Amino acid sequence: MLGMAVIAISSCGSNKKKEMVTTQEFGLSGGKEVFLYSLTNKAGNEIKLINYGAAIVQIDVPDRNGVKENVTFGYDSFGGYEKGDLYFGKVVGQYANRIAKGKLTIDSVEYSLSLNNGPNTLHGGNTGWHSRVWDAQVLKNTDFPAVRFTYNKPDMEEGYPGNVVAEVVYTWTDDNEIIMDYKVTTDRKTVLNITNHAYFNLHGAGNGDILDHEMMIKASAFTPVDSTLIPTGELRPVEGTPFDFRTPHTIGERIGEEYDQLILGLGYDHNFVLDNAEEVDAVVYDPLTGRVLEVITDQPGVQLYTGNFLDGSQTGIGGKVYNYRSGFCLETQHFPDSPNKPVFPSVILTPEEPFLSSTIYRFSVK
Ligand code: GLA
Repeated sequence: MLGMAVIAISSCGSNKKKEMVTTQEFGLSGGKEVFLYSLTNKAGNEIKLINYGAAIVQIDVPDRNGVKENVTFGYDSFGGYEKGDLYFGKVVGQYANRIAKGKLTIDSVEYSLSLNNGPNTLHGGNTGWHSRVWDAQVLKNTDFPAVRFTYNKPDMEEGYPGNVVAEVVYTWTDDNEIIMDYKVTTDRKTVLNITNHAYFNLHGAGNGDILDHEMMIKASAFTPVDSTLIPTGELRPVEGTPFDFRTPHTIGERIGEEYDQLILGLGYDHNFVLDNAEEVDAVVYDPLTGRVLEVITDQPGVQLYTGNFLDGSQTGIGGKVYNYRSGFCLETQHFPDSPNKPVFPSVILTPEEPFLSSTIYRFSVK
């Protein structure tokens, strides 16, 4: 393993001396260097990022008594990221979530993607953007600590057309918000669905399950799936179902119900159709610690995944073990399998119009 010496410290915002970004060596992947970026805001809270998969590694935020704890899944060393395949904190592309049978058609040309999830393609294929070393740049003269990651995806990598340039800027504000600004361009028509796959546990990552977390998702409908988790094309109203999180419910309250979609998904692993009517799209509250996570996005959907495939085989930061349902994800996105579902909002990216999008994870206490 490479040494962890601090190799650079950059202050940002000249009048805000306490905010800063430090850079450390973290590992090597295919001859490319992976760095760990620590961003400290004026409140003294810290997040950590790496340029492998443009990932969020750590988020240290206080509980209602001011006790700080890391609330997201990550690994202590680069080895974990190389071996781990559960997308901890990573940016997922070129198509986040599933594409049925790995097939898509653009202007009558059929493209075949690798199948890495039963009969389907999941999260960009075997070597999607989550497994790439992104270029990184610590931004200067910004109001808050910020890092830009860029990935130049060659034409036809993992079967997706287009030389694509994907960029995500992470900004860590003094209000404990992680702002993720995405910009993606292409030189020929292609499809795009990009998300961040952070897992959260507001007790602290590795401290029990998330079933007592109270969740609210401002979505009046969701997209039911088949047995391979591909949407059927239906937009089903949440009214009267265990998918109605328009008012707060704990994650665990209805997760064990004999409801077709909970059985197929082995719990919640579904795309919610966001109402997008208010600023905040989802709120999660941990009554034990008082920590609150708000998710704000301009995307039309969010995948609620309740860690149904976690099995304790992953050991993360500080030796913490990530057990069954010990983390949840709220992956802001376009709907799964949109390339094959003309009724869903379009995921076509053209050279004429860059994809611009923002999602915010905001932490607070109550
Ligand atoms: C997404 C998928 C899940 C699962 C996880 C990663 O959330 O929807 O089914 O594959 O990623 O384990």
